[in-house]
Amino acid sequence: MLILGIESSCDDAAAAVIETSVAGRVRVLSSAVANQDDIHRAYGGIVPELASRNHVVTILPVIERALETAGHRLSDIDGIAVTRGPGLVGSLLVGLMCAKGLAHSLGRPMVGVNHIEGHLLAPMLEHEVAMPYLALVVSGGHTALFVVEDFGRYRRLGSTRDDAAGEAFDKVAKLMGLGYPGGKVIDDLSRAGNRKSVRVPRARIRNAPMDFSFSGVKTAVAAFLASEAAQTTAPADLAASFQEAVVDMLVRPTIEAARASDAQTVALTGGVAANSRLRTRLAELLEAEGRRVVAPSLKYCTDNAAMIAIAGSYRLLRGEADPLDIDAQANLAL
Ligand code: KG4
Ligand code: ZN
Repeated sequence: MLILGIESSCDDAAAAVIETSVAGRVRVLSSAVANQDDIHRAYGGIVPELASRNHVVTILPVIERALETAGHRLSDIDGIAVTRGPGLVGSLLVGLMCAKGLAHSLGRPMVGVNHIEGHLLAPMLEHEVAMPYLALVVSGGHTALFVVEDFGRYRRLGSTRDDAAGEAFDKVAKLMGLGYPGGKVIDDLSRAGNRKSVRVPRARIRNAPMDFSFSGVKTAVAAFLASEAAQTTAPADLAASFQEAVVDMLVRPTIEAARASDAQTVALTGGVAANSRLRTRLAELLEAEGRRVVAPSLKYCTDNAAMIAIAGSYRLLRGEADPLDIDAQANLAL
């Protein structure tokens, strides 16, 4: 079955073509993304109105690019999977309306997909991952731990009480004048820094060891930058100290959740999964306990449509379809 995936929940417009078989084998034939970082950089964060307006311009070209790379025409597509939430409602609507138009004109089924479900299943695009597995979804919008029990069956063990980890990276990069998005800049800068040079407090939630909190770490960096000590501290040292605190606060609940669920495999997914220090620390600590860590390639960690296609594939393979009057839902729960 050939599935067209469409994703536009935030600032990236993406399309992908995947081929799936009833036996569950998946092949990604293409995955195209129209990135808007250059547009939002000037504002130090995503401007929702600009994001949706640009999706209107890029969504059809990105779908054409995905089809062309896959070597297929629209009429070859057997089903469409599209993100219906959570996300920015204006952005979501562009992809969803486009999917509805295509499904109607082609006479093919369409399913609406939860964006988080896409992140949870992204590791399966490249790896053989036996279920159940534990997944840490960590991006600019989300930070949560889920047990992936089966397609469509996800059990949340913990999540952030405030900011997402990627948001903390982006806000701290902005405070430090490092530009947007901040995660990669801080990751790169930290390589030359001393992780112990600045004391950054680690937040823990009482009685909820699998939950996260990142609002305090951002405030701590802001307070440090306003202090005299900041004058004599190299940006690389501050970046490395901040990053180490965030990594600690991600690693501890994940290990807790791996033990609680006795997951043999832990998948790391979402944009922050690109972080080199997080990958190293998690792999070291979990592999020491005999667990396996899998992380998708960078292009499947950040927002993409191949993960949306795989998340819609099991329903499409069963012959299911959503009615064409489904709505976008900014706060869609998993
Ligand atoms: O999954 P994603 O592309 O979009 C969302 O759904 O949010 O994730 C983007 C987030 C941004 O906050 C970005 O700063 C962060 O991922 N990020 C990183 C790295 N690369 C991207 N954070 C830490 N280290 C990185 N290397
Ligand atoms: Zn995402």
